[in-house]
Amino acid sequence: MKKRDYTQLMAELAQAYAKHSPKSAKLHERALKYLVDGGSHSLRLLQPFAPRIVGAQGAWLDDEDGHQILDFWQGHYGNILGHNPKAVTSVLAEVLKNGYGLQTGFTDRLQIEAAQIICEQTGAEHVRFTTSGALATMYAIMLARAFTGRDLVLKVGGGWHGAHPWGLKGVGFHDGFEGVDSAGIPSAITDEIIVTGFNNPDMLCDHFREYGNKLACFILEPVIGAAGLMPATRDYMQTAQELTQKYGVLLILDEVVSAFRYRAGDAGALYGVHPDLLCLGKAIGGGMGVSAVAGRFDILSLVGAGGGNEVKFSGGTHSGHPASMLAAKTCMAHMVKNEAEIYPKLAEIGKKTRRTVTHTFTEEGIFIRFAGDRNEMLPGNSLHMLLFPYEQDRQLITPEEVRNPAVCDITLGEKVMQLALLLENVYTVHGLGCNTTAHTETEIQFLAKACRRAISRIKNYL
Ligand SMILES: Cc1ncc(COP(=O)(O)O)c(C=O)c1O
Repeated sequence: MKKRDYTQLMAELAQAYAKHSPKSAKLHERALKYLVDGGSHSLRLLQPFAPRIVGAQGAWLDDEDGHQILDFWQGHYGNILGHNPKAVTSVLAEVLKNGYGLQTGFTDRLQIEAAQIICEQTGAEHVRFTTSGALATMYAIMLARAFTGRDLVLKVGGGWHGAHPWGLKGVGFHDGFEGVDSAGIPSAITDEIIVTGFNNPDMLCDHFREYGNKLACFILEPVIGAAGLMPATRDYMQTAQELTQKYGVLLILDEVVSAFRYRAGDAGALYGVHPDLLCLGKAIGGGMGVSAVAGRFDILSLVGAGGGNEVKFSGGTHSGHPASMLAAKTCMAHMVKNEAEIYPKLAEIGKKTRRTVTHTFTEEGIFIRFAGDRNEMLPGNSLHMLLFPYEQDRQLITPEEVRNPAVCDITLGEKVMQLALLLENVYTVHGLGCNTTAHTETEIQFLAKACRRAISRIKNYL
């Protein structure tokens, strides 16, 4: 592994960027007076400052400095149709104009219609809505612990399920994925979390042999997000299904990213895997803050009167918020209706993105890989983490390989390229991001040109 020093390059890029975006720079100074680090979500606060956005349509953003920026972050991978899709905004604008949408606190028909779509498209028996992916996975874990009467929670190293006590162990890579990722969490909780390996069925079997009878649940992303945007292997998913059934452990699929990304429904179905509980978020909200836990009625009923309201998956002032439910229902219905067109298109543009970026870097003499590019399950993956492995033949199918700075040049992928591409008006996170149906050949060619210019700035430092 070569030790590369990007200090001078980052200073040069930052200087050029300050010139490129003076209004955003000024707003950043003001933001620092009132907001921690200038904002409310750490990933958005890129260094030295983030572009301040004034508008967004489809694949593109407009910023305070008058740039049009090609966006691959796309609502934290939540946008399937791009930003502000007309199919959703036209309906929302109409009802808001007519005095409907912000009267939260009541029941209405929209929740029923949105829940019905989720049940029909995923095979879930029941649904309860909440407002963020973190809340959905937290409630799913509480349900699993209450239903099984067991304490331990098995999760995957590198898996991100949102910021809550059971989600904040085994996320960041520190010579492995064993650490607790936040201060302020009782050790009584973190001691109950067991971390296993993604795409490692042997390790999974070992963990079930050791802890199986004490596990309440195994929570798993079929396409791991923060640690590679790569799909699970078929073998791994089927092993997860078999082991959870054998040991009476609930299988929770966290599909906050993957639901409605590969088909109009859950990605687990593509593996023939049926979770006990399914967590959905991001894409189902059509741009609004909507998430849900869906799944077996006998488990979810613990939330309701029939189950003695045993699990307090309740409250939530903005749960089932009418404008959010309208966006969710409209967007999901659109994706269901146009499934045959949307998903082949996403797969095709996903393939094109990977091919074009790989070609561009290769021509410039820089070796790159996309995590999970050799997976058999989702060949048209539209989620992309661009990686710079030190060895060309290194396989990249586990988070340990993807997030280990001895295997991949993480700083180059995440920080240097991000700023170099932003100077070319391309917004990326974790190496690249995702496609939407608003990304076409034109956008991919724009990205290719931007990559070439970014490479010319960084090449001498590699
Ligand atoms: C797989 C997964 N689960 C849960 C979450 C948490 O969702 P939210 O940010 O809406 O709380 C995320 C967010 O990125 C995620 O990727």
